[in-house]
Amino acid sequence: MYNCSDCGYKTIKWLGRCPSCEAWDTLIEEKKTSVTRISREKIAPKLLREIDEIACSRISTQLDELDRILGGGLVKGEIVLVGGEPGVGKSTLLLDVASKLSLAGKTLYVSAEESPSQIALRAKRLGVNQDSLFILGEDDLGEAANYIQDNDYEFVVIDSVQVVRAPGCDGPKGSVSQIRGCADYLTQLAKSLGIVVFLVGHVTKDGAIAGPKLLEHIVDCVLYFEGEISSGYRILRATKNRFGPTGNIAVFEMVSTGLRQVKKLNDIFLPHKDSALSGSCVVCAIEGLRPLLIEVQSLVTKASFGVVRRRTLGFDFNRFSLLIAIIEKRLKLSLSNQDVFLNVAGGLKISDPAVDLGMALAVISSAKEKQLPPSSVFIGEIGLAGELRRVNNINLRLKEIERADFSSCFIPESNLKEVDKKFKLKIRGFSSLGDIVKEVF
Ligand SMILES: Nc1ncnc2c1ncn2[C@@H]1O[C@H](COP(=O)(O)OP(=O)(O)OP(=O)(O)O)[C@@H](O)[C@H]1O
Ligand SMILES: [Mg+2]
Repeated sequence: MYNCSDCGYKTIKWLGRCPSCEAWDTLIEEKKTSVTRISREKIAPKLLREIDEIACSRISTQLDELDRILGGGLVKGEIVLVGGEPGVGKSTLLLDVASKLSLAGKTLYVSAEESPSQIALRAKRLGVNQDSLFILGEDDLGEAANYIQDNDYEFVVIDSVQVVRAPGCDGPKGSVSQIRGCADYLTQLAKSLGIVVFLVGHVTKDGAIAGPKLLEHIVDCVLYFEGEISSGYRILRATKNRFGPTGNIAVFEMVSTGLRQVKKLNDIFLPHKDSALSGSCVVCAIEGLRPLLIEVQSLVTKASFGVVRRRTLGFDFNRFSLLIAIIEKRLKLSLSNQDVFLNVAGGLKISDPAVDLGMALAVISSAKEKQLPPSSVFIGEIGLAGELRRVNNINLRLKEIERADFSSCFIPESNLKEVDKKFKLKIRGFSSLGDIVKEVF
């Protein structure tokens, strides 16, 4: 069988280009193999009420932000996948976590990418506790499992899944069958021994953990480490979590002594809170359970060549194109010979539809070269007819806006009746994008 190493497409004959993801030279021959199973004692079925849930109590990682994303801490037998682009700081974060966990239980850091002395060099730079953490430079998971079983390690870090081999599994390292084999083997190991395993996974350019979604359904928790490498800020986001909420984010700053937790998010996502600039708008997005106030900026300039440029950073491009089409059609504002750029402050990627209104207003504000009212936040999803749609959790958002000292907020009219009476903030409801534009410009 030939497997595509990017998307997992299967075919019985070799092809130069994968018909599914259209990547060249990614089909790799793989023989069907079965992964050696770890022996596990026979377990009889038990009544649900007789099962002891205390065995799954939470273990703190000593990093409050990470604990919060995990849903209160780690759970015994949990396998956590940490994905991120090369150089984003996965090894740095996990070395810090591992050294903290080593105070709570025996911890092993298995590195197949770096030599133990390179890790020692990093540990010195980070100033982490070096007295109780064990390092193993090994790429064979069978060997590593022997050490883990013989020495009763409770926490294990595998850096990274793309460069280790599972016992009894053919195929080159990083191939689909090898990655699946490794994840399967480690899951068995974690569940049968009740240990916590952190697994590092590299992410390809388009954001999928290499060896596609294969890993994600096997593991218990998926944490993505994202952010512009040059900005220094890194955002850790839970996209899957069997023992806690998803979507939550934590922000870290990369400094020479490692990753520092950032708790005042407004400093990063709201750099120009008090100065009204044309093309700039403040939105409120809910990421996970937390409302975040974020500044978005747009720049609309006349296209100098025949082809117009449209770029977004931190916002879905298709959604952005749709908003531009709505602005052109419903507001009769022509952008067809204009370059339009949109940027979200702090390197964050927002997916909450409630930011539509702010995104559209930022573009309109830059096109008209007029500022939006100062100290205001704009919330609303925009429909194809230019109407403002109701958003969820309006009171949670308003509470955050009031806490950050904004004076007014523009929301969809359909949200007005559910707004708590207690807010001192000036709250105004509108039914369409057109009405808001008439009011604010
Ligand atoms: N002396 C230093 N001072 C400040 N930052 C540093 C220093 N050395 C490394 N870094 C930061 O650490 C980052 C690399 O971190 P790390 O090796 O943990 O990333 P990674 O995600 O594990 O990478 P890879 O995918 O290659 O394994 C660099 O991008 C850089 O930002
Ligand atoms: Mg690394």
